[in-house]
Amino acid sequence: MIYLNNAATSWPKPEGVYQKADTSLRQLVGSVNRGINRGSLDAAMAVLETRELLASFFNIREPENVVFTCNATAALNLALQGLLEAGDHVIISSMEHNAVVRPLYALKKMGVDFTIIPCAADGTLDPRAVEKAVEPRTRLICLTHASNVTGTIMPIFEVGEIARRHHLQYLVDTAQTAGEIPIDVEAAGITLLAFTGHKGLLGPPGTGGLYIRYPDTVNPLIYGGTGSNSELPGQPEIMPDKYESGTINAPAIAALGAGVKFIQETGLEEIRRHTLMLTGMLLEGLRQMPEVTVYGPAAERRVAVVSINIRGIGAGEAGAWLAEHYEIVTRSGLHCAPLAHRTIGTLATGTLRLSPGYFNTPAEIEATLAAIRELIEVVRDA
Ligand code: ALA
Repeated sequence: MIYLNNAATSWPKPEGVYQKADTSLRQLVGSVNRGINRGSLDAAMAVLETRELLASFFNIREPENVVFTCNATAALNLALQGLLEAGDHVIISSMEHNAVVRPLYALKKMGVDFTIIPCAADGTLDPRAVEKAVEPRTRLICLTHASNVTGTIMPIFEVGEIARRHHLQYLVDTAQTAGEIPIDVEAAGITLLAFTGHKGLLGPPGTGGLYIRYPDTVNPLIYGGTGSNSELPGQPEIMPDKYESGTINAPAIAALGAGVKFIQETGLEEIRRHTLMLTGMLLEGLRQMPEVTVYGPAAERRVAVVSINIRGIGAGEAGAWLAEHYEIVTRSGLHCAPLAHRTIGTLATGTLRLSPGYFNTPAEIEATLAAIRELIEVVRDA
């Protein structure tokens, strides 16, 4: 198998992640904050360790303000639904995922308004257009760090400056970038950072989280037992308990910690160097095929995500052919991001997306390019 669907979920994981998942599930006997026994205390320590690792990874000064959720979608929902009130206005880009767009459409019914800033056909965003959209009622700018359709890296620093200048909250969705390009919440002026554990951070599915710089501005979405202040009827304000009701997924969070450690040991620079090299190879090879339309910017301005269409064959059919004949795993369709597809002009067709990861090799990219060349021949002869 050649796995080129790392933008959906990374595979394989580092050995340490598998080991940690296995030992944690066996040894973390008990629930964090619920009972004094070795396993429960170890679970609490493992969760704390991952929280601190993530805080240092994103340059977050208050580790307790990193709250765990089950994925980036849950984190984005917490940020949007927890923060916004009737009368508030939000600015987003036209490359956002449904994890942002759908909660905003739901909030619109409750009186929240939003402006979508159009991006160029390669997914790039002009920060000046963001500033022009700021109104007195604007409360939040919400921006993906990179598109899951074209890989386009967004100008998060420039937009962060705008948010700072206008005293706005700034939510950045790092689902496609965490673990591939550096993220520094202080430098970028990020007040809310959503991440997922199972993509570039190389952890298991079901892990993710939200950094909340100002917890007093965000209501929890889920209320319940936290193992703390149990005598009070109201949700505790202490962090991270305010947002972590119910038994937390300690074994998976411990395994996510192993993923982050692997990245730190390997070095983000080395990971980016490798994925950029593979992406460059893919783009170069595809651009030599006149039958292929490639979307998005140059390799250096994107993460390892390449969307294409092949003349004469639908994206879904092309993906199925690659899977059937060469066990090449890709993802076709709209990638839960119809707004982004509308921006690049592929809402009606979708695209075939190839997304390499750190564990892919140049030989696999060569083999994939050869398979696409063969597919083009097959379509031509049909
Ligand atoms: N949002 C993920 C993707 O792009 C799941 O495939």
